[in-house]
Amino acid sequence: MIKAAVIGCGRMGAFTSESVKRFSPPCWFPLAHAEAIAAHPDLELAALCDASSDNLARARDAYGDPPGYLDYRALAEEVRPGLVGIATRTIGRADIIRTLHAHGTRAFHVEKPLCNSVAELDALTPILQSPDVHATSGAVRRFFGIYRVACDLVRSGRFGRLVEVRANFGAGALYWTQPHAVDLILFAAEGRDVAGVQARFDRLDPGETPGAVQNDPVVQSATIWFDDGVAGHIGRAPGLDLVLSCENGEVTVASDGRALLIAEQRGDDPYLVREQLPDSPHTGPQGTLAPISELAACLTGDARAIAANAHNKADILRGQRVAFAAIESHRRGSAIVGLDDVDPALSISARTGGNYA
Ligand SMILES: NC(=O)c1ccc[n+]([C@@H]2O[C@H](COP(=O)([O-])OP(=O)(O)OC[C@H]3O[C@@H](n4cnc5c(N)ncnc54)[C@H](O)[C@@H]3O)[C@@H](O)[C@H]2O)c1
Repeated sequence: MIKAAVIGCGRMGAFTSESVKRFSPPCWFPLAHAEAIAAHPDLELAALCDASSDNLARARDAYGDPPGYLDYRALAEEVRPGLVGIATRTIGRADIIRTLHAHGTRAFHVEKPLCNSVAELDALTPILQSPDVHATSGAVRRFFGIYRVACDLVRSGRFGRLVEVRANFGAGALYWTQPHAVDLILFAAEGRDVAGVQARFDRLDPGETPGAVQNDPVVQSATIWFDDGVAGHIGRAPGLDLVLSCENGEVTVASDGRALLIAEQRGDDPYLVREQLPDSPHTGPQGTLAPISELAACLTGDARAIAANAHNKADILRGQRVAFAAIESHRRGSAIVGLDDVDPALSISARTGGNYA
């Protein structure tokens, strides 16, 4: 058995919110990190950590009373887990990853977003790029069967070349909501190079140090331009749909994974005919158990899982750079900004009201 631990035992770490339980499609479950770890046959939930003693006690109660820690440093030293789920708020997450890595953890399921500054991202990059480190993100839709089937359909060429991806997540904030949109666009882009990012926010509130942003800015519009001309758009359209537009048709994952829709030209009719495809048979783990299973397979030396995870890790780093480039773009009047053309002092605390993303 591989020793696993969860740090941060709130909604994502241990207790899935009631509204998600009520409305999200079945592909979302199990969602909480601790639930997914407990469901995996090769993983032992060896410890839980939360800085709040109340939250820690509640989580230990719910998950069979494993050892509990108020400080992740003590957990890293004493438990030395092979795999860790990190579901704290973003501030401090980079230090948690570095500390666990220094104590030998090699598999990380890390809530989105990855970190709060370009400096933290630069420090995490060599860790995540290391071939013996495996990582997945809380932007978990890319692991769900329905999104994979949608990308397979596009790749089949049936609708012509991919031209545009739209992630309709409503008027969402850069750190709270849109990491999911960015991740889906990168997933659909299948490793294409990002040529630049163009974005406009409602407003950026300056923080206390040069380059700092205090609020979690709501995206009005953001476009990720890929080097072959494919565009990934984030606007304010609602619905939690992912739309993959090709030259002659479209594939849509609707309503967060509830339905798969296609639109295509048939015969001489120039208009697109729309159709809902029957549900694909469910295969393999879903919810957070899907990325956790990939990580567990990586730790046991599964070459396919390791290769797949290398792409996922690259997209975690790329997605974070996209977020920073979006801020940089807004500051430069929505110019197109390359991923490496960002103020090295840029940081964001992503505060909304009294909460941090
Ligand atoms: N993947 C998704 O769909 C999704 C959905 C909601 C939130 N999130 C992300 O997940 C993260 C957690 O969100 P949440 O809604 O579960 O938050 P939450 O506030 O419910 O839980 C966070 C928990 O982490 C604990 N914590 C904070 N700092 C800690 C530290 N240094 N050490 C140990 N414990 C610490 C808090 O006490 C709290 O119990 C956020 O960054 C958020 O952006 C992801």
